Amino acid sequence: LIPSRVKLIDVGPRDGLQNEKAPVPAEVKIELVQRLQDAGLKEIEVTSFVSPKWVPQMGDNAEVMAGVRRAPGVLYSVLTPNMKGFEAAVASRPDEIVVFGAASEAFSQKNINCSIAESIERFAPVVEAALAAGIKVRGAMSCTVGCPYEGDIAPEKVGELARLMKNIGVQRVDVADTIGVGTPRKVQAAIEATLRHYDIDHVSGHFHDTYGQAVSNTLAALEMGVWNYQSSVAGLGGCPYAKGATGNVSTEDVVFLLQGMGIDTGIDLDKLVDAGKYISDFLGRKPNSRVATAILNK
Ligand code: HMG
Ligand code: MG
Repeated sequence: LIPSRVKLIDVGPRDGLQNEKAPVPAEVKIELVQRLQDAGLKEIEVTSFVSPKWVPQMGDNAEVMAGVRRAPGVLYSVLTPNMKGFEAAVASRPDEIVVFGAASEAFSQKNINCSIAESIERFAPVVEAALAAGIKVRGAMSCTVGCPYEGDIAPEKVGELARLMKNIGVQRVDVADTIGVGTPRKVQAAIEATLRHYDIDHVSGHFHDTYGQAVSNTLAALEMGVWNYQSSVAGLGGCPYAKGATGNVSTEDVVFLLQGMGIDTGIDLDKLVDAGKYISDFLGRKPNSRVATAILNK
């Protein structure tokens, strides 16, 4: 079942940087995107069109999108939680928009200020408008293993969210372990529930590394045949005010795992490490990646 080829979606510019308290200038974000595409990333989650009151760091979304020098064959995606976000995003010509829901009611309320059912009602016209405009649609599913407010999340809730996403026309979905509490069997159960509604080509793994399980969880998902993953260069992400919180699994760690298993990613690890060093230097810290650290210390 293990795939021979894997596609990595770097979410560093969006998921990674959204929690940074100090503003990161648009030109730095644009340069990060440039370095990621130069390293061979074929999908990059660039920014989000959310309320700047909620996430000030993403308030420069249009400027960043306008500044990216697009490479052929690279897909640039942006988050759009509602029609207002979609309408703002369209002018930036994203290749794909991402609606984002949760398998947990409490997280849905905290993150997007509405229930799961209401979120689906908000997403439906966004999905319809995107598809009509020839823009692809992905759906992120948060808290598929655990929720910071509700604790463990049953796989049935993940299956139900996947069903709702499918019903409104979302083309592919991310199984996200938002707080990194997942371990291999739990992550597999969440994926299994999703696979009842989406085929393997339309399911991706999105694992945060808070508890250091994300590489193991990636292997667990690989064993099920999942070949799309979100990861974040230099392991960017995490809230400086939430004790122990960290970002997505680092793209460097995942690439090293895959290369070691003989799985093709098309990514140049040295260039990727350089991209991670670029943004880490800007942020004034070391890359949050074991592989990047090892390579930089060689
Ligand atoms: P709301 O307050 O319920 O929205 O927020 P509203 O429709 O009532 O509007 C309130 C105000 O926000 C209005 O402005 C709107 O114009 C404005 P005001 O009249 O007060 O001046 N507004 C917007 N402005 C810009 N862009 C928009 C937009 N929508 C409304 N799209 C809303 C609802 C979803 C907007 C809000 O809750 C929000 O922005 N939340 C941010 C959520 C977010 O970005 N979270 C992080 C990304 S998700 C994630 O990281 C998880 C993921 O990585 C997977 C995983 O790991 O789990 C994907
Ligand atoms: Mg995330």
